Amino acid sequence: QAEQRARELLARMTLAEKIGQTVQYGRCEERERQLVAEGRIGSLLNVHGAKKINELQRLAVEQSRLGIPLLIGDDVIHGFRTIFPIPLGEAASWDPEAMEKNARIAAREAAAEGIRWTFAPMVDITRDPRWGRIAESTGEDVYLSSLAAAAKVKGFQSPNESGYPAVAACVKHFAGYGFVEGGRDYDTTDMSERTLRETVLPPFAHGIRAGAMSVMSAFSELNGVPASGSRYLLRDILKEEWAFDGIVVSDWESIEELIHHGYAEDRRDSALKGLAAGVDMDMHSGVYLDHLESIIAEHPEMMELLDDAVLRILKVKFRLGLFENPYVSEDDPEEIGIPAAHLEQARDSARKSIVLLQNDDGILPLDTGRFKKLALIGPLADDRHNTMGCWAWKGRDEDVVTVWDAFQSELAPDTQVFHEPGSGILEELPGGIDRAVDLAGRCDVAVVVVGESEPMTGEHYNVASITLPACQERLIRELKSRTFTPVVVILMNGRPLAAPWLHELADAVIEAWHPGTAAGYAVVDVLTGAHNPSGRLPVTVPRATGQIPMYYNRKNTGRPHLYEDYIDCDDSPLYPFGYGLSYTTFEYADLALDKPVIGKDESANLSVRIRNTGKRAGEETVQLYIRDLVASSTRPVRELKGFSKVFLEPGESRVVHFALGPDELGLLDERMAFTVEPGKFHIWVGPHSEEGLRTELTVI
Ligand code: IFM
Repeated sequence: QAEQRARELLARMTLAEKIGQTVQYGRCEERERQLVAEGRIGSLLNVHGAKKINELQRLAVEQSRLGIPLLIGDDVIHGFRTIFPIPLGEAASWDPEAMEKNARIAAREAAAEGIRWTFAPMVDITRDPRWGRIAESTGEDVYLSSLAAAAKVKGFQSPNESGYPAVAACVKHFAGYGFVEGGRDYDTTDMSERTLRETVLPPFAHGIRAGAMSVMSAFSELNGVPASGSRYLLRDILKEEWAFDGIVVSDWESIEELIHHGYAEDRRDSALKGLAAGVDMDMHSGVYLDHLESIIAEHPEMMELLDDAVLRILKVKFRLGLFENPYVSEDDPEEIGIPAAHLEQARDSARKSIVLLQNDDGILPLDTGRFKKLALIGPLADDRHNTMGCWAWKGRDEDVVTVWDAFQSELAPDTQVFHEPGSGILEELPGGIDRAVDLAGRCDVAVVVVGESEPMTGEHYNVASITLPACQERLIRELKSRTFTPVVVILMNGRPLAAPWLHELADAVIEAWHPGTAAGYAVVDVLTGAHNPSGRLPVTVPRATGQIPMYYNRKNTGRPHLYEDYIDCDDSPLYPFGYGLSYTTFEYADLALDKPVIGKDESANLSVRIRNTGKRAGEETVQLYIRDLVASSTRPVRELKGFSKVFLEPGESRVVHFALGPDELGLLDERMAFTVEPGKFHIWVGPHSEEGLRTELTVI
């Protein structure tokens, strides 16, 4: 029906009105308002507030000739008003259901304000934690990121009260942006067709299969052609091979930037190349607005491309029900606040994303009988803003529950709690370390919350060294050297941090990422054991920045990697992909295949028994990895092909099953066609990418 209605509308449109639908602006001042009223802008971003958005919609609906509503977009990345953990943290939960719930809540909150399009999920795989946008990614793995992509698309596009998708999702950035050289944002990407197809594209394909209504073309170039001018990426792969029928929107001015790439002569040429490549909507640069009319006059054959772009945009507007419901209620969001259910989900999702990295002598959970006086130290212990992480514009500092807030509300008065920042994030505080040492010396345990600020991660915030800032390192070293008080470190950051010294010094280390609105509750739930930590790393944590790129599914090479590749650094990871501790222990046993030999089209069933061998109930993430031992192209030493989360009471055991069939065992042949090759496979089931029980499967 959307298709039919869009075609009928398209048939009534003038050239200027058609071009208008392909124009998006990231501001709306006098000039843009006029253009909206003339039907010459089809979409806006960075406009907020129900009143303002309704007013703009009125200009479009009531004043423009055809009354086509605006599509209002925004970067609703990990929450709107309620902020969930950054996507890298969400990924650490290995819980697509939680990710879907988060996206659904974010979509509801945004849509209530009139925002019906989010530029999320970002599905770029990356192997470079120097890149600030790793915080927005779901890590290094194809399988986990593909599940996350589909879950988030479903959550964002879940139906609202009127039965329309709450917001349209946008899988971005197509494609290869996570592989920018040196982790420098916007830099060159160059990769083999195999890496593109095996590693980069699958999460996009999953997001699109889940129904994503839009895709954003990347800023970066891929193998010599800027993504926003790449017919190969946008037409050949996306629109033809995958038959994607939604909108392709450029990244911010990325069509105009074809000029800087040395791929277009001027603005007009960039517009021509953008449309020819398959970018349906120009974000903010104005090159379509200014030049498509003369381009079509000179190249009438391009009218077909323009019509196709407009049709795609109109279809999404119809699918969202914008023609039926262009306006939203103007109830004051101040009055609405954060609903209790949203806060509860933020708390649950934040604690599920927490990864326990180290727990010497079982110091955690904190025994409040033994630890009666708690010192809370560190620059992020009571920092509302930075706790939310990047892309949390609509989150409000005043909504955030910091760790210090939660210490006071959840632990006191039974436990005595004290607070001293000790250091800033990037700079020392005069006398701060001495005060912190003094406080820690008088307490039974010091909980130290350290990490990165919001502007150290996200777009354009790359680092040359992925470690803790020097002032924070000094704080921890002095706490350890000048007191006998045990130190529990909570990391709040947007990338894995290479800090082996920290892991040698600290008595316990918790990776909390930037946890969002309910940060403090989530951290206290884990510290006290009210929640048994179950997060697992979605990225490898290196020991040193120089090990980058470091990822678990590397190749074996002709001289297999022995962790002796550097003379100045142990080349093993500090923590491997998939790693995370619990307050209980799990035993893996009885790994069995129902058939050790299968045909190419068949599947085998794998089973393993998991037992909780500790004293607390807990959840294990049982991970399935394979290795294709000999194939027509070299295969990674391990590839994640499945996982299952099992919650077990102490002493309880359960058998977990996995299917191993063509989806898990196949690969792309030399011509990039999917195939299953005969041969032997090693299969592991274990707690992370470097451990597990192993069996062998043969495909004939
Ligand atoms: O959606 C973002 C994109 O990820 C990076 N550049 C700006 C866009 C709109 O804000």
